[in-house]
Parts: sequence; structure tokens; C-alpha cells
Amino acid sequence: MTQGKIAVVTGSSSGIGLLTAVELALNGYRVVATMRNPETRDRLEEAAQKAGVLDRLDMRRLDITEMDSLPGAVEAIVRDYGRIDVLVNNAGFSVAGFAEDMTLDELRRQLETNFFGNVAMTKAVLPVMRAQKSGHILTVTSVAGRLGQPMLSAYSASKYALEGWSESLRIETHSLGIRVALVEPGAFDTDIWERNVVIAQGSLDPSSPNRERSQRFAEFVKGSAKHRRDAREVAKLIVLIAKDPNPKLRYLIGGDAKLQIWLKRLVPWRRYERMVAKAVKID
Ligand SMILES: NC(=O)c1ccc[n+]([C@@H]2O[C@H](COP(=O)([O-])OP(=O)(O)OC[C@H]3O[C@@H](n4cnc5c(N)ncnc54)[C@H](OP(=O)(O)O)[C@@H]3O)[C@@H](O)[C@H]2O)c1
Repeated sequence: MTQGKIAVVTGSSSGIGLLTAVELALNGYRVVATMRNPETRDRLEEAAQKAGVLDRLDMRRLDITEMDSLPGAVEAIVRDYGRIDVLVNNAGFSVAGFAEDMTLDELRRQLETNFFGNVAMTKAVLPVMRAQKSGHILTVTSVAGRLGQPMLSAYSASKYALEGWSESLRIETHSLGIRVALVEPGAFDTDIWERNVVIAQGSLDPSSPNRERSQRFAEFVKGSAKHRRDAREVAKLIVLIAKDPNPKLRYLIGGDAKLQIWLKRLVPWRRYERMVAKAVKID
């Protein structure tokens, strides 16, 4: 029974967050769909209108890196709805480029959002779920949180950190009635690849020793766009996990993600590394 349950989604202006907000609403949840810039609400409004669930969505401004504002935002939700049954930590972005070309500031910015922002949001919601003795905290990490991906060292680091933190949190909160689960997508068709990607400044510098390899990698990414899957699959999975009273820790999703994990497990490590470098054209 999901009727009357309250879900909070971060980063719902596009991609997986947008689709998850709609899918949760279609499944009877009242959804507080948060986004850092409410001026970008049109796409969500349109999708929700089309699905006939606009009246089940409450769009609010929330930037997960404005950490001091998060407890107040959560308090306001509880004041208005009385509880939070599901938190979907979805907001995130990726910095791309060779580790050598990436500045420490770029690495910090990546961790600030993908790790500290999601941690701060979870910490703001934890007292509410503790008091309720129930709640699901579902965090979208990535297959890149299970294997280091070339050109995405900062992104992989942020997702590994989130995986480790959540793994600990899950053990700490199980007896409180709180369920923590991780969603680990492979490549899905969203704005993360183009509109929202941040290219490390050093990679754009013509004098970078990696310039030519960076260009080959960019061509590989462009060429692989057609293989990205429909992000609705991820949204549907998130709803299934939200409804499961006892979810697993990890949910890997996407044939590419499953293949990568399978290869990592079965192929000798040095061979695996060579295969990856060749596949993404940086060898
Ligand atoms: N698509 C994939 O292939 C894939 C694979 C693995 C994991 N993921 C993960 O899936 C999650 C959603 O990404 P997506 O693929 O749906 O990409 P997306 O379309 O770019 O969506 C990312 C969302 O996060 C929001 N966001 C970024 N920084 C934020 C902040 N500081 N506070 C609040 N919201 C913020 C963005 O808001 P703006 O619109 O304001 O930029 C946007 O709504 C991310 O955590 C990503 O790492 C995606």
C-alpha cells in the first residue's frame, strides 16, 4: 500500500530523478520533487501532466550542496506532510578528463555534490526516519562505484565513497527500521552525458599531454550514445525497491553494467585493464 506515502527525490529537473518522481507518483506516492533551480521545472511539469500525476507532485527548491539549508528543508516537508517514507538521493553530475589533467578543485567539487551533498541530505532525513521507526533511503550511485572507469576518476571516487558510506549506514540503521539500498546504473540516456557533464579544464588545454587521447575518448563516448538505455528502467526499479520492505543492498541495472562487473570478476585483472583501455580508445 503506497497511497499516502511520502517520497522525496533530489535532482528531479531531468533524467532519472525526473522519471522517478513521475513513476513514484504513478504508484500512489505523494512526491516532493526537489531541484536546485525551480526555473527548470517545465520538463517535470510536462511529464507529470502527461502522466496525469501533476497533482501528486510538490516541486521545491533544494541544492544538496547548500548543506546548512537541508535540515530546514526537511523540517518543512515534515511540517507539511507529517513524515518521509522514501528518500531518493539522485542528484549528481560527472567531471570527465584524465586524472592528470584534473585539478584538486575539480575533484573537490565532484565530491562536494556526489558524496558530501548526498550524505548531508541523508543525515537531514535520518532523525525523521528514526522517529518514525521506518523509511527507505535509496541512493543512486553507479557501476562506476564498483569499478574505476578511465576518464571518470573523480566520478568513480565519489561513487565509491558513497557506496562505502551507505554500506556502513545500512548496518547501523537496520535495527531502527530504516532500509538503505544502492542503485547502480550502467549507461542510460540522460543529460549527464552532454548538458551536465563538466570537462576538466586541463583536458581542454591544447598543451595537455593527453589532448589526443582525450579527443579519441570523446569520439568513443559520442559513438556509444546509441547504446544508452531508456532511463525509465531505472525509475521503475527505484519504485520496486521503495515498495520492498526488505530490499537488498545493491541493485545493478543495465546490460553494460552487468557485463562490466562480470568481466571484472572473471577476467584476469591485467587483461581486463588492457581490454578497457582499448575499448575506450585511450591505449
Ligand atoms: N545516466 C547514466 O548513465 C547514469 C549512470 C550511472 C549513474 N547515474 C547517476 O544517476 C543520477 C542522476 O543522473 P542523470 O543520469 O539523471 O543525469 P541528469 O539528467 O544530468 O540529472 C542530474 C540531476 O542532478 C541535479 N543536480 C546536480 N547537482 C545538484 C545539486 N547540487 N543539487 C541538486 N540537484 C543537483 C541536476 O540538476 P540541474 O538540472 O540543475 O543540473 C539534475 O536534475 C546521478 O547521481 C548520476 O551520477 C547516471
